[in-house]
Amino acid sequence: MAKARIGMVGLGVMGRNLALNIAENGFGVAVYNRTTARIAEFVDSAGDLSARLVACETPAALVAALAKPRAIIILVKAGAPVDATIAALAPHLAPGDMIIDAGNANFHDTRRREAALADDGLSFIGMGVSGGEEGARHGPSIMVGGKAEAYAVIRDIVEAIAAKYHGDPCAAHLGPDGAGHFVKTVHNGIEYADMQMIAEVYGILRDGQGRSPGAIGALFTRWNKGALKSYLVEISARVLAAVDPETGAPMVDVIVDKAGQKGTGRWTVIEALGLGQSASTIEAAVGARSWSAARDARLAGEAIFAPVVDQGGGPEIGDDDLQSALLAAKIIAYAQGFALLDAASQHYNWQLDMGRIAEIWREGCIIRSAMLNDMAAAARVGLPHGQLIFAPDFAQKLGPATDALRRVVAAAALQGLPTPAFAAALAYFDTMRRAHGTTNLIQAQRDFFGAHGFERSDGGLDQHGPWAMS
Ligand SMILES: NC(=O)c1ccc[n+]([C@@H]2O[C@H](COP(=O)([O-])OP(=O)(O)OC[C@H]3O[C@@H](n4cnc5c(N)ncnc54)[C@H](OP(=O)(O)O)[C@@H]3O)[C@@H](O)[C@H]2O)c1
Repeated sequence: MAKARIGMVGLGVMGRNLALNIAENGFGVAVYNRTTARIAEFVDSAGDLSARLVACETPAALVAALAKPRAIIILVKAGAPVDATIAALAPHLAPGDMIIDAGNANFHDTRRREAALADDGLSFIGMGVSGGEEGARHGPSIMVGGKAEAYAVIRDIVEAIAAKYHGDPCAAHLGPDGAGHFVKTVHNGIEYADMQMIAEVYGILRDGQGRSPGAIGALFTRWNKGALKSYLVEISARVLAAVDPETGAPMVDVIVDKAGQKGTGRWTVIEALGLGQSASTIEAAVGARSWSAARDARLAGEAIFAPVVDQGGGPEIGDDDLQSALLAAKIIAYAQGFALLDAASQHYNWQLDMGRIAEIWREGCIIRSAMLNDMAAAARVGLPHGQLIFAPDFAQKLGPATDALRRVVAAAALQGLPTPAFAAALAYFDTMRRAHGTTNLIQAQRDFFGAHGFERSDGGLDQHGPWAMS
C-alpha cells in the first residue's frame, strides 16, 4: 500500500471523526491510539473509508507508514497527554517532519512546544478545530498557527476537510506559533458568552413569565429566521423542544443546572486581564458556570432569602425587546473578543487578520451566525480603535438594540432575575460611549493614599493633589 499522506494519533471523538473526514476527501491516513484495541475497532467500523486508513500498533509503525515529509495530527486530551504523545513520536521523526496539535491547547504550551521541536528541526503547528463531533466529521472551522512554510505542506488537506462558506474554506493560517490556538481560545470564550446570553433569555421567560420550554423553543425558532440566525440559537430551540423519553417531561427540565468550566473560557479571561483588557461578557459567562457549580449553596440561599417581589410594576419584558437585547449583547461579546485578539496580535506581533478570522467563523464552528458575514465585512474595512461596536453598520444596529438591552437588564434586575452577561455587555457599552468617565476620582484616591501621581486635564504629568489641606 502507498504511504499515507498524514497521521492521526488519538482516536477519541474528535480524532476518529477528523480521520474519517480526511479519508473521505481522498487522503490516506495512518492511525494510532494509546489504547491499541481502539485502532482496529475504529478501522473496522469505517466502512468503505477503511481502505484509506492504515492501522498502526506503535508510534514507530505510524511514522513508518507516512510519506515524507511526515505530518502527524495529535488529537488527544489537552495538557500532559500532548507532551507524552510528542515525546513518543519525536524520536522516530526526521528534520522537516511536523506534528500538528489539533486539540484545545493553551497557546502558551503551543509556543513552548514549537520552540522545543524547532531545536530538532521539527515543525509544530497549533491548529484550533471548532465544530464538535459533527464538524470534525463533515467540515469544521480550522484556525492554524505555526510557520507558513509548514502549513503549506498540509494546506490542501486542511482546506479540503474544512467547512465551506459559499465555496470559501473556513480554514486559514492566522499567524506564527500559538496564534491559531489563541484565536480558538477566544472563539470558545465568545461561545461561552453566547451560550450564557441565550440562557439568560431562557431564564427571563421561564422564571419571569412562566413560559414552557416548548414555547421558548418556538420563539427561538422564529428568531433563528432573522438577525439572530445562528447555530447556538438553532440548537437551543431544538434542545427546548426535546422530550425526556423516560418521563415525558421536557428534556431541559430534567437536567441539573450545574456546569463546569474547563480550559478555554477561563484562559480567555486570564489572557484578557494579562493583556490589560477585560472581556467582561466572557468573564460573566465563565463566572456564571462557576456559580452554577455551587448548587448546594444556591439551595441554601433560596431557603434564606425570600423570592424577590417585583419592584418594577411595569409591563413584562416583550419578545421584541428580548430579541434586540440578545442581538446587542451578542455583538458586544464578539466586539470584546475582537478587541482581545487585537491586543494579543500587537503584543505577540502576530499580525492577525480580523476579517479573515470572522470569515472562517462563518461556517463549521459553534459560534457561526448570520452576523459573522457583516463582521467580516466591517473588519475588512478596519475596526475603528479595534472596536467592532464603532464600525458604522454595527454602531447603527447597536443604537436601538442597546435601548432594548437597557430595558431588559433593568426589568430583570427589578424581578430578581440574574443576567450577568447582559449586564456586563451593557456596562461595557455605556463605558465605551462616554468620553468623561469616573477614573479621575480613582486617580485622586490613589494619589491620596499612595502618592501615585496623576495627569492633569489642563496639562502636566505626575501631579499631586493638595490632600494634606483637605
Ligand atoms: N469533543 C469536542 O467537541 C471537541 C471540540 C474541539 C476540540 N476538542 C479538543 O480535542 C481534543 C480531543 O478531544 P476528544 O473530545 O476527542 O477527547 P476524547 O474523546 O476524550 O479522547 C481522548 C483521546 O486522548 C487520548 N489520551 C488521553 N490521555 C492520553 C495520554 N496520557 N496519552 C496518550 N493519549 C491519551 C485517549 O486515548 P485512550 O483511548 O487511550 O484513552 C483518546 O484517544 C481535546 O483537546 C479537546 O479539548 C474537542
